[in-house]
Amino acid sequence: MPFSLSSTTTLCLAAFSLFRQTEASCEPPIAFFPPSTSDGAFAPTLATIDKAVNVFLSDPSLQTSSLSIEITNARQSIWSRHHTSNVSVQAAENLEVDGSTVYMIASNTKVFTAMAILQLHALGRVNLDDAVTKYLPALKKNSTGGIEWDRISIRSLLSQQGGLPNNYAQSDLLADGVASLLGLPPVSDNEVASLPACDLNTTVPCDKKGLLQDLRTANPLFPPHVEASYSNVGFDLLGLVVEALTNATYEAYVTSKILKPLALNSTGFVAPSNTTGAVLEGESQWGQDLGIDNAAGGLYSSSDDMSLFLRHILNNHQTLSPTLNWLEPTTYSTGSHSFFGMPWEIFRTTGILPQTNRPVTFVTKGGGLVGYYSYIVLIPQHNLAVSLLYAGTLGSFNSLLETITTPLVLGAEALAQQELATKYTGTFSTTDLNSSLTISQSPSRSLFISAWISNGTEVLAPLNSFVSDLAGDGGEIYYQLVPTSETRQRGQQTGEVWRFYNVLDTPSASDKKGEVWNDYCVSNVDPLNYAGRAFNEAVFWVVDGLVDAVELTAFRARLARN
Ligand SMILES: *[C@@H]1O[C@H](CO)[C@@H](O)[C@H](O)[C@H]1NC(C)=O
Ligand SMILES: *[C@@H]1O[C@H](CO)[C@@H](O)[C@H](O)[C@H]1NC(C)=O
Ligand SMILES: *[C@@H]1O[C@H](CO)[C@@H](O)[C@H](O)[C@H]1NC(C)=O
Ligand SMILES: *[C@@H]1O[C@H](CO)[C@@H](O)[C@H](O)[C@H]1NC(C)=O
Ligand SMILES: *[C@@H]1O[C@H](CO)[C@@H](O)[C@H](O)[C@H]1NC(C)=O
Ligand SMILES: *[C@@H]1O[C@H](CO)[C@@H](O)[C@H](O)[C@H]1NC(C)=O
Ligand SMILES: *[C@@H]1O[C@H](CO)[C@@H](O)[C@H](O)[C@H]1NC(C)=O
Ligand SMILES: *[C@@H]1O[C@H](CO)[C@@H](O)[C@H](O)[C@H]1NC(C)=O
Repeated sequence: MPFSLSSTTTLCLAAFSLFRQTEASCEPPIAFFPPSTSDGAFAPTLATIDKAVNVFLSDPSLQTSSLSIEITNARQSIWSRHHTSNVSVQAAENLEVDGSTVYMIASNTKVFTAMAILQLHALGRVNLDDAVTKYLPALKKNSTGGIEWDRISIRSLLSQQGGLPNNYAQSDLLADGVASLLGLPPVSDNEVASLPACDLNTTVPCDKKGLLQDLRTANPLFPPHVEASYSNVGFDLLGLVVEALTNATYEAYVTSKILKPLALNSTGFVAPSNTTGAVLEGESQWGQDLGIDNAAGGLYSSSDDMSLFLRHILNNHQTLSPTLNWLEPTTYSTGSHSFFGMPWEIFRTTGILPQTNRPVTFVTKGGGLVGYYSYIVLIPQHNLAVSLLYAGTLGSFNSLLETITTPLVLGAEALAQQELATKYTGTFSTTDLNSSLTISQSPSRSLFISAWISNGTEVLAPLNSFVSDLAGDGGEIYYQLVPTSETRQRGQQTGEVWRFYNVLDTPSASDKKGEVWNDYCVSNVDPLNYAGRAFNEAVFWVVDGLVDAVELTAFRARLARN
């Protein structure tokens, strides 16, 4: 019977995709639209952070450091705190560090460099997968060190996959005076003389000629794309790519195409006056001309400007270059939860939300020069971002990050859950048939289907057994509703398109033997059709901020709120 054979085959294929999802405790990373954190409902969360930061700042070891911390959402700054070092120019002149105080942002400059490249990508001037030698042919000329330049793309450089050395003339222990403490041998004058002048003398900026000359004989760290490793040299080269494409200096391009249009008036490549800057007593790289390293770490900026820039990123990361989402990872970093984007340092953890397996993603970039540290942390799920600027001796920065981001995410999560409960939950039914759907919310399941009858048939029980039969022995299955960001238009009304996604609540005891793999997930939010329509699609029709009707696409049913 060919018909039954073919329908069995179809079922198996379709079921396979369900199977892949249900075997493990996999939750979609996006369970809701970002909550609104601009109004009073978020005040308790900010008060909690304020208190915790006060405790952190009261540590005597921090009194000699200046610090600016700011939290912004996609619309506006929602919290900030500034701390003035007791050994700063500000303290000496009875001034206070504030949102306009300028710090060196060091490697956060790489975010601006990446943005410059992505702008040029969006204009069709650079293909991210072109070899860097297309734009910098000089790299290949007389190259003897073994770096496979033709295999290193613009994307490789942006995401630290080039296998390149980290630094050209910047990390030499010879300049530090600690060599003998580490048992390193003395080196001959000839060897010292052969080093680039900018290696040992910080008043001599490294330049393009020296960099290219050095790279001609430099050995690769890895062959391209074997393992990612942080490289400032890669960003020096991206700065040169910007120059090659625009016939302007890197600094001029960034100034005219990023800083000016975004009105980042306190941001630039030249140190401002010592009272505008967070300048401390003691050794620092304040005011040093970084030369060719400007594209890797040469910018100065303020907390206000960084927040403005972060808002721009939150609002534009999907469209800056239309063919990519800027905040996505490109490759692995070390550890099992860390990734590189372009140039992001991305950290994903399930450790922060106790009741669910849903990961929280922190898209970060850190920077450090002598005396200055900067961190930005974007939380795209919640449309939030944090900027930390620091002048002083670095203490425990992780504990500050934790102090701020943990309550921030927990607070935003609680608000988002509350919005789910208010807007979407309820029982919806039809009058012509015995059909009804109950949508509930809980902190562990977010929005889910808790009861479902279709034309007199209980749907959940047979659906569960259909899904779990194919998944083998499993724990409790529920159907989580996840937003797709797609909309449907009907007349004046706009419908939000959601999908329900089967999630295994907790692996059953017998699954423990496969525990390692319970975290193994293959996303497939579109597993089955019924008569040509997506089986798991639900369209929410919203009136006055409340879901008024739910349309179950494959069931050809529109259920109105009871
Ligand atoms: C700055 O604060 C530190 C730590 O509290 C203290 O030891 C030091 O004396 C202070 N320096 C000045 C100039 O006030
Ligand atoms: C490459 O080597 C050739 C021959 O040794 C030399 O003439 C040329 O100047 C070198 N090119 C560069 C860019 O150094
Ligand atoms: C560093 O370079 C500057 C500028 O060339 C020079 O004046 C100075 O003497 C150099 N310092 C040392 C320690 O060599
Ligand atoms: C590049 O810039 C220089 C100096 O500003 C100018 O003379 C030259 O015409 C420009 N070349 C191109 C191709 O735009
Ligand atoms: C930045 O400069 C622009 C242009 O000069 C000006 O319109 C804007 O008000 C300035 N923004 C701030 C925050 O000072
Ligand atoms: C500004 O501060 C730096 C670093 O402490 C110092 O070297 C420089 O002399 C200061 N400049 C002025 C004009 O005071
Ligand atoms: C509802 O169920 C009845 C009887 O089981 C069936 O005849 C009818 O076609 C169904 N209608 C719809 C719209 O599902
Ligand atoms: C609707 O269907 C459910 C499930 O079969 C059944 O328990 C319930 O009695 C029905 N309700 C009506 C009003 O027929």
